[in-house]
Amino acid sequence: MFSFANLSIPLIQAPMAGGITTPALVSGVSNAGGLGSFGFAYSSPETIGHDLKLAQSLTQGLINANFFIFPSAELPDSKTIGQVIELLQELTPDIDFVVPKPPFCPDLETQLEPVWQLQPAVLSFHFGIPPEWLMQRAMALSIAIGITATSLEEALKIEQAGASFIVAQGIEAGGHRGTFEIDSPDERLSTFDLLHQLGKRCTIPVVAAGGMMNGRDIRKALDLGASAVQMGSAFLCCPESGASSEYKALLLDENPRPSIFTKGFSGRWARGVENTFTRHMDAKSTLPFPIQNTLTGQLRQAAARSHNAEHQSLWAGSAFYKARTLTVGELMKALQIEFVS
Ligand SMILES: Cc1cc2nc3c(=O)[nH]c(=O)nc-3n(C[C@H](O)[C@H](O)[C@H](O)COP(=O)(O)O)c2cc1C
Repeated sequence: MFSFANLSIPLIQAPMAGGITTPALVSGVSNAGGLGSFGFAYSSPETIGHDLKLAQSLTQGLINANFFIFPSAELPDSKTIGQVIELLQELTPDIDFVVPKPPFCPDLETQLEPVWQLQPAVLSFHFGIPPEWLMQRAMALSIAIGITATSLEEALKIEQAGASFIVAQGIEAGGHRGTFEIDSPDERLSTFDLLHQLGKRCTIPVVAAGGMMNGRDIRKALDLGASAVQMGSAFLCCPESGASSEYKALLLDENPRPSIFTKGFSGRWARGVENTFTRHMDAKSTLPFPIQNTLTGQLRQAAARSHNAEHQSLWAGSAFYKARTLTVGELMKALQIEFVS
């Protein structure tokens, strides 16, 4: 059974959906004694099976497979849909946007079929608690379960559900804010403030996520009671990361832009580098998550084909400007040295 004591460095490389967490990145982290994670939220069972198998062939280390707990979503009336499409067409008049059809998200049970076969050490979830049957099945197979919390209330629910650990996601974190409800009141706690609150009340291990970029940050999180950290932005510029070259270039820009929260890409709050798209969508209505994500997928894919960073989702945490261009092996070594010194 997975235990943080089995890691030679208390580090989870964050799952990052959308092709960033390649088998080379995940296995590189695991080979260096951390926990490499796949972001499989939108992946097909075929891709999940393929990537897991490949990573397992590249490492003897531990692997985490991460999924979203998608909420049910319904299309609004055609006038609202038309307004959102009009807004997107102001940016990309050439795209003839197709209104997404149900089912609006992948079926978790089907996505998990290859997971039960290949049995990674850990399964983690974002946006809520997985169903009871899933928790039971994972437990029966000795697969540990981690779940994101952005507040003490969510953390206590996770503990009560029988999870193995909590990923405490602070407001600095890149990517989607993992709140259970999309529009619930949000205290927007910093990673260390959240860690402090959870440390007083939670009995299962807590992992600090958000703004952790070097080994000194890992040490500080552990001193404040974390069992490990989860780092995403720090790995984005590794050659093994699947982030596009134009995405990496903006992260490494000498005059970095701010990373801001937007609902424009997916219909849920997520933090990324500001660009033309986020400015255009600022304070505008969207379709519900994940329907908006599917709709803007048409624009994002076109932007990826033409290497246009201005229309891509450039998820990154508030400290992304500290990301390094080292290979994953070199970065893990540097983190280990900084952590112990
Ligand atoms: C590009 C990107 C994609 C992300 N995708 C996911 C995801 O699929 N699942 C998940 O649980 N967290 C996801 N996150 C959030 C991370 O798990 C974590 O909370 C965050 O990276 C920590 O903050 P940092 O980026 O400052 O290290 C993503 C983060 C980034 C930067």
